[in-house]
Amino acid sequence: MMPAAISPPVPCETDIAPLAPSWRATGDRIRALVDHYLPLDHLRDRLEDLPHQFTQPRLRPWQPLPWAAVHRDQLVGIDCDTFCRILAGAIDTEAPIRGYTQSSRQYLAHHYPAMAQFVGGHVDSTGNLVTLGLWEREEKRHTPALIKLYRCLAGRAPRVRPHAARPYRPSGDPRADLYRHGLHRVATEYGATCLYLWMMAHCHGPLQTVLRELLVDEINHMTKFWGFGRWAYPDATLATLGQSLTQALIHKIRQPRTQGSLLHTLRRMMAELGWPHWSWQQRATLIYSLDQVMRRLWQWDRTLPPAYLTHLFGPHLYRTLRRRWQAIAWVGRVEARGH
Ligand SMILES: [Fe+2]
Ligand SMILES: [Fe+2]
Repeated sequence: MMPAAISPPVPCETDIAPLAPSWRATGDRIRALVDHYLPLDHLRDRLEDLPHQFTQPRLRPWQPLPWAAVHRDQLVGIDCDTFCRILAGAIDTEAPIRGYTQSSRQYLAHHYPAMAQFVGGHVDSTGNLVTLGLWEREEKRHTPALIKLYRCLAGRAPRVRPHAARPYRPSGDPRADLYRHGLHRVATEYGATCLYLWMMAHCHGPLQTVLRELLVDEINHMTKFWGFGRWAYPDATLATLGQSLTQALIHKIRQPRTQGSLLHTLRRMMAELGWPHWSWQQRATLIYSLDQVMRRLWQWDRTLPPAYLTHLFGPHLYRTLRRRWQAIAWVGRVEARGH
């Protein structure tokens, strides 16, 4: 297979819909952005890029950004204070990227070393990080870019209060742990994709050009995590998804300080983004953006049959791994009973 192009053929022209502050016009802009940045062939290209990144990791280059031309006049249908509050929330959520990448690496390390290295790099025998993963190298550009954007719009630096990343916490069932953790990763990349796309629907010109680079990175990562997860969990169904979310919620109720759940993550992110200050129109259009992106992802998901995923990532060692996972889970339960 030939290496896929590292930078997707996404046009950089930014004003792709007429400017108007009504909710209907915002909806039109969201649909136009989804069509523009998430066409099915682009999602396919981003997933097919992943096996090449396992062997030859290459940073997706950013275009030179027109920082000097960014101005609050480029906002559409949103006031500068609300937009800056959202930027501040995104900064706090993006900032602890090292914590995110290292917990993901640990969940993946035993069974999927190539993916573990892609997200979290390589550690030596004493646990020191010696090389960064490509995911971290690309994501760590986001916080400085958002801070710079905040400075351009607000005329002052933001107060950064990074969210604490949830550390690696094995339960004794590595397969279930990885599934739950992977769901969180896909959900956060999806959330970031929808948010940046929604923000792009509320601006134009140089401001939109800056956000575009973050959006393209998030789409790239979301697609890779989703597709890899479909390969790694060929037996997963909607029932598996529901079961995993319910278990996380039960653990969250029992151990509120240590355990995370998707609901908790969603609530925390909404609080950080200043959701109570949003107008009903802004809330409705963000929900619309979540809906439009998810529809596109499900459409793409139907083009991922097992044979295609095997062609990309090789035969899945599911049966062998399942025996190993069952053995580890059994030992974990026996040890837990002994204590
Ligand atoms: Fe990001
Ligand atoms: Fe991300």
